[in-house]
Amino acid sequence: MKKAVILAGGMGTRMQPATANINKHLLPVYSQDGAIPMIYYPITSLVKGGIKEILIISSREHCGKIIENLGDGSSFGARFTYKIQDVNNTPLGIASALKLAQGFTGIDPFAVILGDNFFEDDFSIYFKNFNTARFDAAIFLKEVEDPNRFGVYYDNFIEEKPSEPKSNLAVTGLYLYTNIVYQIANNLILSNRGELEITDINNYYCLKKSLHINHVNGFWSDMGTPKSLIATQEFINNSKYSINLEHS
Ligand code: G1P
Repeated sequence: MKKAVILAGGMGTRMQPATANINKHLLPVYSQDGAIPMIYYPITSLVKGGIKEILIISSREHCGKIIENLGDGSSFGARFTYKIQDVNNTPLGIASALKLAQGFTGIDPFAVILGDNFFEDDFSIYFKNFNTARFDAAIFLKEVEDPNRFGVYYDNFIEEKPSEPKSNLAVTGLYLYTNIVYQIANNLILSNRGELEITDINNYYCLKKSLHINHVNGFWSDMGTPKSLIATQEFINNSKYSINLEHS
């Protein structure tokens, strides 16, 4: 697997008022490594895993600042392409943003990672060995204390932010797909919250029994709320994890 898509749009409502004029994914994560913009962590997960062709999708309002900060990707040892999710012309939601990646990924299998997700794990093996003969997609689960904030996996089905979660297995923001995903995304209907949901895509694969379920072993966080951002900073400061910025 050589290509990946980072989804870095959204309103960042859970991080207001800081996100009134800065994209959530550029907010700093403070640690002994410095004040590192949030999005550097998912970039690092991809690059450490051997993926260097990366499409970054962000909103019309914030794409400029993201491009200014990240440039062409050479400082990460990668090559970045950018695309705008203009909410005046496209519906909201992760699955809606994903549809914009079709021209970039073509017929190749690819990874999708959410721009606020922090993973301690190394995914090299998963990226290398994604078995497209057996599976059309892969997800990565992590046990959490607050599953109602996430997509929750139970008995071959994912419920998006359930008020009464049936398990404590959150669906993390890393997904592996083949180009079949675009057919599924094109047939989605808007959810109750008015978005095209990644969970609806993954439930299609559950139904077809073609979803590979993996588990995250190390620390995982979504960094999308003040509390989870602070927890991530604490993890980094108390562990041996260090962001690899040797190319910068
Ligand atoms: C999204 C997905 C959710 C997933 C989460 C992981 O939620 O919809 O299924 O568990 O990312 O970070 P969001 O945080 O964008 O609302």
